[in-house]
Amino acid sequence: MQAGATPRPLRAIKAGGLNGRVRVPGDKSISHRAFLFGGLAAGTTRVTGLLEGEDVIATGRAMRAMGAQIRKEGDAYIVDGVGNGCLLEPEAPLDFGNAGTGVRLTMGLVGPYDFGATFVGDASLSRRPMGRVLDPLRLMGVQVVSRSGDRLPLSIHGPRAAAPISYRVPMASAQVKSAVLLAGLNTPGVTTVIEPVMTRDHTEKMLQGFGAEISVETDGEGARHIALTGQGPLRAVENLEVPGDPSSAGFPIVAALIVPGSDVVVENVLMNPTRAGLVETLLEMGASIEITNQRQSGGEAVADLRVRHSQLTAVDVPAERAPFMIDEYPVLAMAAAFAEGTTRMNGLDELRVKESDRLAAVAAGLAANGIRHEEGPDFLTVTGDPEGRGPSGFYGGGTVATHLDHRIAMSFLVLGTATQNPVTVDDARMIATSFPEFEAMMAGLGAELMAVGA
Ligand code: S3P
Repeated sequence: MQAGATPRPLRAIKAGGLNGRVRVPGDKSISHRAFLFGGLAAGTTRVTGLLEGEDVIATGRAMRAMGAQIRKEGDAYIVDGVGNGCLLEPEAPLDFGNAGTGVRLTMGLVGPYDFGATFVGDASLSRRPMGRVLDPLRLMGVQVVSRSGDRLPLSIHGPRAAAPISYRVPMASAQVKSAVLLAGLNTPGVTTVIEPVMTRDHTEKMLQGFGAEISVETDGEGARHIALTGQGPLRAVENLEVPGDPSSAGFPIVAALIVPGSDVVVENVLMNPTRAGLVETLLEMGASIEITNQRQSGGEAVADLRVRHSQLTAVDVPAERAPFMIDEYPVLAMAAAFAEGTTRMNGLDELRVKESDRLAAVAAGLAANGIRHEEGPDFLTVTGDPEGRGPSGFYGGGTVATHLDHRIAMSFLVLGTATQNPVTVDDARMIATSFPEFEAMMAGLGAELMAVGA
């Protein structure tokens, strides 16, 4: 399923209304963790609804390289884990492709093992900071060899016995929190992560489900203290159901909101409050989103969302909400382009270290398509127009540089379904990292996406 070597430009053309019922693929965060925790826990975990994107497959490959057995049976992945503390030394470098979550969580997981492991990735992943995970691992006794300043490629080697730490996460990052907790699994004693700003809580919740000894308390200042007792058993979860990814759902949701005449139902969307910031913001903007069929699935709240074309109004998105919608700002910017007034998105510093510098990439894409905006060091404003007109006329007509970033590609293709003039992205290959079905799903709803230069 690896993407080809040459870029694949793709163009979105203005669509009539989008209509239909769709299901988005399984949540990426939960899918990575399903392979990691299932591969570690003793016994057999059966995973359904897993995202079969390149990022998650890379994590599965890494777990296989360290002794887990993973096979597909019908719709389910059957994962036979090695048992906590029993990973094997990988013989070859672990290649994570584009996957930041995969590489950072796996570094944490193998960090305390008394063996060596080498991590490599694509050009985008090799530019991203790994020090945020390596710093706490070093405190636990892990050695790091890197020629490129805590960037990939790099190798780590654990100590004979790792030291438990109490670590205050310096930025709002679920990956850093998770890496430290996973390192704690093979460390004697209690490893504590202090999280001043809450981030997605899948690691805590799922580790509990796998039988880890873990507790969460919130102090007087609102900081969460997550304490994990290491070297206890982890037990397989018989049936692990992965709910639909709210970040992927953002694309058909925003497309339906901005294309006149649309009426779309997105089924089975994860509604965990640490992931629901986009829907909350869109509702504040006046979006017609009906939350129906609310239920529990795999220990998480899920719902079906009925979305109809809406007149949107600009809002100020508070910085405190950023961790709960961190991957959704690019697509929110596309909604803001059609909202009346100026939408201001605050607290976006972490966007600069995603698969691309997303703040710069979104701003450049908006500029290329004639949409009023202002990029600040950690904020973005977008001044919208419900008719899709900017200072130089109707929106669109530009080509967007995606910088190996799946969400930049999908966001601007969503934009192009609503703009008078087509929007082209320079490369659609990376969409397969998180949403291989994106193009077919959008086409099924009535969007027109076409290859360029074929
Ligand atoms: C993720 C955490 C977030 C998010 C990423 C997935 C996770 O990253 O952007 O797509 O699964 O833990 P950060 O921890 O860097 O904020």
